[in-house]
Amino acid sequence: MALFVVRGGRRLEGEHRVQGAKNSALPVLAAAAAVRGQCVIRNCPDLSDVKATLHILKHLGCKVAREGEIVTVDSTARSGCAIPRRLMREMRSSIVFLGPLLAALGCAELSAPGGCEIGLRPIDLHLEGLRALGVEIAEDGECLTCRVPAGGMRGARFSLSFPSVGATENLMIAACVAKGVTVINNAAREPEIVDLAAFLNACGAKIHGAGEGVILVEGVKGLHGAEHTVIPDRITAVTFLASAAVTGGEVLLRRAAPGHMDATLTMLEQTGCRLRRERGDTLHLKAPARLRQLSTVRTMPYPGFPTDAQAVFMSMAAVAEGTSIFSETIFENRFRHVAELTRMGAKIRVEGRVAVTEGAVRLHGAKVNACDLRAGAALVVAALCAEGTSVINQVHHIDRGCERFEENLRLLGANMIREGNNATDKNGQEGS
Ligand code: UD1
Repeated sequence: MALFVVRGGRRLEGEHRVQGAKNSALPVLAAAAAVRGQCVIRNCPDLSDVKATLHILKHLGCKVAREGEIVTVDSTARSGCAIPRRLMREMRSSIVFLGPLLAALGCAELSAPGGCEIGLRPIDLHLEGLRALGVEIAEDGECLTCRVPAGGMRGARFSLSFPSVGATENLMIAACVAKGVTVINNAAREPEIVDLAAFLNACGAKIHGAGEGVILVEGVKGLHGAEHTVIPDRITAVTFLASAAVTGGEVLLRRAAPGHMDATLTMLEQTGCRLRRERGDTLHLKAPARLRQLSTVRTMPYPGFPTDAQAVFMSMAAVAEGTSIFSETIFENRFRHVAELTRMGAKIRVEGRVAVTEGAVRLHGAKVNACDLRAGAALVVAALCAEGTSVINQVHHIDRGCERFEENLRLLGANMIREGNNATDKNGQEGS
């Protein structure tokens, strides 16, 4: 089992190049299965979730090659429409293959991903939306069998009862080849939706309004190959900013997308960090000697504060002055880092979906578990400023979303090493 050993107390300083966004790369790669021809995807992060996505593409008969950060997917020989349970379980986001398989082959057989560390994560909205396009769906326990009727999918008007990112992605991909026009009301507005739409449009789709609450998709006959560059990862970017902030440090992010980070950057400024956008994609942070408390952090769909950044901000709040309040509105089980942070000396009280963090404590090193991806990254942030040595177990969760995390933090001056390997760590369903 791989683990991180972090000796805290070093001030982080230097430059970091932000990786491509996991939450963009995964749907874009899955959507490449809906295309006939070759897609070249640039700025693709090297993550275990990306590897799991490439495994699924290969299983479906696509040719896949990776050279550095460029992934090529050739779907010309794509054949199968079934994804075995073993591959589905490697990653929760594999549900985003539903739309591409229906668009490309008119059928999809896969197992529902089920709950995971951060909550129940139902897929009812994905299925309701696809049914509105005419897809016939049979659910037998965890098994889903989906078929497009003989005349093909037909455009429809569909309102999401919640702006689900995954459901918007599946619907948008499927609607690309439906007959007529599809209107998705109350669509998710995340930058990753805009990125996926840009990729699909480069492949010949006609999607309008991505990034707004109403998306309109004019159906086309088919999609062709294209090149695309994945947007920067706004969540790992803020994780590196937080790492510098808790150590009183200074960091320059290159190839960032500050325009996607308003909610988190505003909160960072509240803590007393000085932020400077130097060029379109460069962001500089200088931390104060002591971080100030945050006002209430309420997780919301974009452009609100992202649920994926909640844990990392809680690590900051644990060492900041005063009391900070966190309200998690997106997922029901997203405070699993609290028990671990408490082992490091943090003073946090949870009541339902609210966590109250009394700051101004000096954290101390401890043995903790990275219970999910973002919780794990938050524990590393806490360990960087804790007194003494921390051991963070189960880092395979962190590897799902943070590219060479320890190497990149070491480049900023962190004292952090990886021990062991992940060969036996695959344990199925994962969070976020
Ligand atoms: C969520 C985040 C997204 C983040 C991603 C990965 C939000 C709104 N979405 O997207 O920013 O990038 O995790 O960490 O913060 N839901 C249903 N039925 C469905 C689908 C979703 O009830 O069919 C509910 C979920 O239980 C959850 C909420 O909708 O409470 C958000 O889900 P969704 O946006 O679909 O999650 P992800 O796509 O995983």
